Amino acid sequence: MTIQEIYLLALKMGMEADPRGKKGVEAYLKRQNKDYDQLTPKKREHFDTETLTNPYSDTRILFGDPKKNVKKVLAGIDSNGAEVLLVDRLNQKGAGIDLLIGHHPAGHALASLHEVMDILVDIYSANGVDENVAYSLLQETMGLVKRKFGPINHSQAVDAARLLDVPLLALHTVWDNIGDNFMKNHILGREYGSLGDVLDAICEIPEFKEAIKGKNGPSIVSGSEKGRTGKIMVSFTGGTNPSKELYKALAEAGVGTLVEMHIPEESLQELKKEHINAIDVGHMAADSIGANLFLDELEKRGVAVVPASGLIRVKRTKTKKN
Ligand SMILES: [Fe+2]
Ligand SMILES: [Fe+2]
Repeated sequence: MTIQEIYLLALKMGMEADPRGKKGVEAYLKRQNKDYDQLTPKKREHFDTETLTNPYSDTRILFGDPKKNVKKVLAGIDSNGAEVLLVDRLNQKGAGIDLLIGHHPAGHALASLHEVMDILVDIYSANGVDENVAYSLLQETMGLVKRKFGPINHSQAVDAARLLDVPLLALHTVWDNIGDNFMKNHILGREYGSLGDVLDAICEIPEFKEAIKGKNGPSIVSGSEKGRTGKIMVSFTGGTNPSKELYKALAEAGVGTLVEMHIPEESLQELKKEHINAIDVGHMAADSIGANLFLDELEKRGVAVVPASGLIRVKRTKTKKN
């Protein structure tokens, strides 16, 4: 596969798993195109035209010739300077890695992380929060996220990749959408007697079994094992966590249990006050799920995968090669 083919496969899988549904993603892209059409020619010069067809600002080819053929990738949760150096070092030893794929975005994919948070409006409104409230609260958070990541040195990894000629691909929301979809299918639609039963169901998943061995498994962070669940909500995508006010709105929306990748401390305090149960499944294992389902597809197409940087590799398909 070429880098471009890998990127396009990621976009396709990400959109298929998007919590907004196909129609929601199309509506989002339509809005982007409308915005672009209304811009003056001068403003168009600065417009990122990739956003007209790619709804994920944190999913991009950050360095490398899209036409380059890829036989082996190193895939990790992070792709910082260290991972770029790791690829270069491994290649010195003859590893033959053609592409570095990272989940947490670097470069402009990180600087624009707030742009993918539109997904959260739909996730929260699907769980009963009024969409006008979710939208309004998220506008504030998007501003905060933009200002938080704005001053960071975004281009370090991309500069290292350029100097060492290591092609670099960021796949953030795409993998999170795939993981979100998998978790919803696994968790929702079952009957649970208690919160402990939900935790047990999560711990059946191999990535979490592995994380438990590393003392970093899922845990109940609000509520107790014997507690009743109420309505369960799974949230694994949307860039980053929303504000504590939006978590608070979940109580009014009738959500009883929240299953999340990671929950900031101040939001957790808010959830406890509202008597909403919360299960923090553990960040790296959670991020590994979407990664693995995508990487299985690469292996099926003959691309070898070297897991690194916190990725707990679990294969769900049997491949001829590897
Ligand atoms: Fe993630
Ligand atoms: Fe993450």
